[in-house]
Amino acid sequence: MADDRNLPLRESNLVFGEGNIDSTIVFIGEAPGEQEDVQKRPFVGRGGQLLNKNIEAIGWKRADVYITNIVKRRPPNNRDPSSEEIAAYKPYLTKQLEIIAPEIIATLGRFAMNYFLPDAKITRDQGAIFRIGGRFIIPILHPAAALRSSEMMRAFEATFKTLPKAVVRCESLKEESTSQASATEKRTQKPLF
Ligand code: URA
Repeated sequence: MADDRNLPLRESNLVFGEGNIDSTIVFIGEAPGEQEDVQKRPFVGRGGQLLNKNIEAIGWKRADVYITNIVKRRPPNNRDPSSEEIAAYKPYLTKQLEIIAPEIIATLGRFAMNYFLPDAKITRDQGAIFRIGGRFIIPILHPAAALRSSEMMRAFEATFKTLPKAVVRCESLKEESTSQASATEKRTQKPLF
């Protein structure tokens, strides 16, 4: 990625992602912000602290999961990433997910959610579990949104608390469907539960 001159936003640093490449769950945000650009690590600003706190509140450790973004460089002034930027970074995210092969992708915010679930609506669908191909997608609000309102904060924390059980449910559903090969490639944009 460092050598790919066709990638946009090359004036910013590369924030590739970090964590346990054997993790069952990968958290995916939108794009690095100012602190992330400086430290070249995902989710290390205020939003990152909230993410860490919620990961620890459910008894997990940040180092045990994998964290990355759909766009790997900071857009100027933290503007929203464009569809061209998202498309340009897509082959790298695809490869990254192929290598890590998580069972669950927890998306943080609207952009990461709509990358996997184009028709989903964040306020309606956050906290639900979807299945795309062999993978489970759980949309979560963006930590920055949770920091802006106490109602969003409650929803963010409540969804986090569902994650340990969701991992167990997804693992058992996965086992069921691998024993019935035809179900594994089913695409659905409806929440499973
Ligand atoms: N917001 C994101 O979406 N990703 C980061 O890494 C930091 C803030």
